[in-house]
Amino acid sequence: MNGKREHIAVIAKSKANSEFSRAERATKFILAKTKLRPEIALVLGSGLGAFADEFGRAVKIPYAKIPNFPRSTAIGHAGQLVLGAVDGVAVAAMQGRVHLYEGYSVKDVAFPIRVFARMGVKAVILTNAAGGINREYSQGCLVVVRDHINLQGVNPLAGPNDERFGPRFPDMTRAYDRAFSEFTVEEGKRLGIAIQEGVYAALAGPSYETPAEIRYLRTIGADLVGMSTVPEVLAARHSGLRVLGISCVTNMAAGILDQPLNHEEVLATGERVKAQFIALLRAVISRIAEAIR
Ligand code: HPA
Repeated sequence: MNGKREHIAVIAKSKANSEFSRAERATKFILAKTKLRPEIALVLGSGLGAFADEFGRAVKIPYAKIPNFPRSTAIGHAGQLVLGAVDGVAVAAMQGRVHLYEGYSVKDVAFPIRVFARMGVKAVILTNAAGGINREYSQGCLVVVRDHINLQGVNPLAGPNDERFGPRFPDMTRAYDRAFSEFTVEEGKRLGIAIQEGVYAALAGPSYETPAEIRYLRTIGADLVGMSTVPEVLAARHSGLRVLGISCVTNMAAGILDQPLNHEEVLATGERVKAQFIALLRAVISRIAEAIR
């Protein structure tokens, strides 16, 4: 009898601790802070956080206050969620993300996307800083992600599958939304910003790649390399969210130019193209909102 009761208690506890209930808790907490119901979520990578400072009706919530949310430690990442309006579209933006290289598990990295899905968001815009492998790119150019190669060695969907999030074996044939990518290229043209397209290879980091690794990545079809985004895309597609990925080539990848890489350069380039990037995001948000309504 006692054994049975203990068994039920264990099940109840594991249900309460499931990723789904942890996401539910975070969702309730966030939605209680505002009447806005975001349609689009953004993850603003290194240096891009400033965009969220322009939102109307903004409500800012530090990650540390949100139940179960991971906290960002990287330089250039503010670590707060901003809910607000961009030209009449309700959005939720992460000013900074967390990365595997900070020591977080891949499930932690993807957790905010789980929360966005529970919040009822229909689309996510994931931005990042990346190294350019494709020689047609140059420092500061913006690239729409067409596809990715996951070389992080981990997947946030590993482990028991919770059908309330999505199916066991989600399709990744068109992980990056074609229509969203087209909007981005079109809006770029309209704004006079040249937009490239490419394949993003994700590595765990935190060290930058060796020139030999970059030659390998080029051989397998990568145009860009970075340390983020892919876990978020996997979780987003698992829950049926439509995805747009945009990379800023903050530096050419190791060995492409005859010079070493450093994080200050990455931040400085991000800073230089920030205004363009923000103008593009603003325009794309309106187009995406039309498409998902
Ligand atoms: N490699 C990996 N990640 C990056 C790079 C790079 O060259 N630049 C910005 N993020």
